Amino acid sequence: MKQLLFLGDVVGAPGRVLLQRELAALRARLSLDWVVVNGENAAGGSGITRAIAADFAEAGVDVVTLGDHAWGQRGFEAEIATVPRLCRPANMPALCPGEPWRIVTDAGGARLLVFTVLGQQFMGTKADCPFATADRVLRELEGRFDFSLVEIHAEATSEKVALGWYLDGRASAVIGTHTHVATADARVLPQGTAYLTDAGMCGPHEGVIGREVAPVLGRFLDGRPRKLPVASGDVRLNGCVVSLDGQGTAVAVERFEWRGPLPAAAVAQA
Ligand SMILES: [Fe+2]
Ligand SMILES: [Fe+2]
Repeated sequence: MKQLLFLGDVVGAPGRVLLQRELAALRARLSLDWVVVNGENAAGGSGITRAIAADFAEAGVDVVTLGDHAWGQRGFEAEIATVPRLCRPANMPALCPGEPWRIVTDAGGARLLVFTVLGQQFMGTKADCPFATADRVLRELEGRFDFSLVEIHAEATSEKVALGWYLDGRASAVIGTHTHVATADARVLPQGTAYLTDAGMCGPHEGVIGREVAPVLGRFLDGRPRKLPVASGDVRLNGCVVSLDGQGTAVAVERFEWRGPLPAAAVAQA
């Protein structure tokens, strides 16, 4: 049996600090074989840097995935090719730099394929069809992996649920991200694919999807643009743990949430 921990979008320094502080202990306590983390909001709430990705790898993250905020940090497009164990969404235009998927091997030699597809509904990001892209990647890499995790980074729950059914029996897990709000629908679909509409986020929950309440509320009330600083309170890690059998099939999936006190210094770094 293999244990895979997937964690939703890491938001700013609060999310990073809690992840980096807790992951080694969680890895041991949950007997994890792989840890996959979405890092699209890790740097100041938008994007990621090579240095942050290196910190994640050192903390025990096997693969960092991204989403529509992949290019949120200036210059990352020039860095991404040099960042190991990170992939940008597979259905971004082929002109985009960065690897569209990753295969990582655990201590026993088992191979996990990881890739992300962006949704097309209400996203405002240029992306090819997530369904056709998932088909293509799974077909092209057939025989090169034993387990597969397909992340659907999307706004619409219907698009995410549909992809779960579409890949049932063909992917080990289909897990959603992007909304930063965890859903309560973790289940194993009939053909053995673990499914969760949204993993939630690793970041401050005393806020509006990771940002301070007052400026977000102000923008909704009067429509004027404002800076939206990363929030600081009630920091949690959110995601799910998938249990996989030797055939690459999911036998269980459970929501995962970890709360912990955060060192005050983390707030200033956000
Ligand atoms: Fe996000
Ligand atoms: Fe996103």
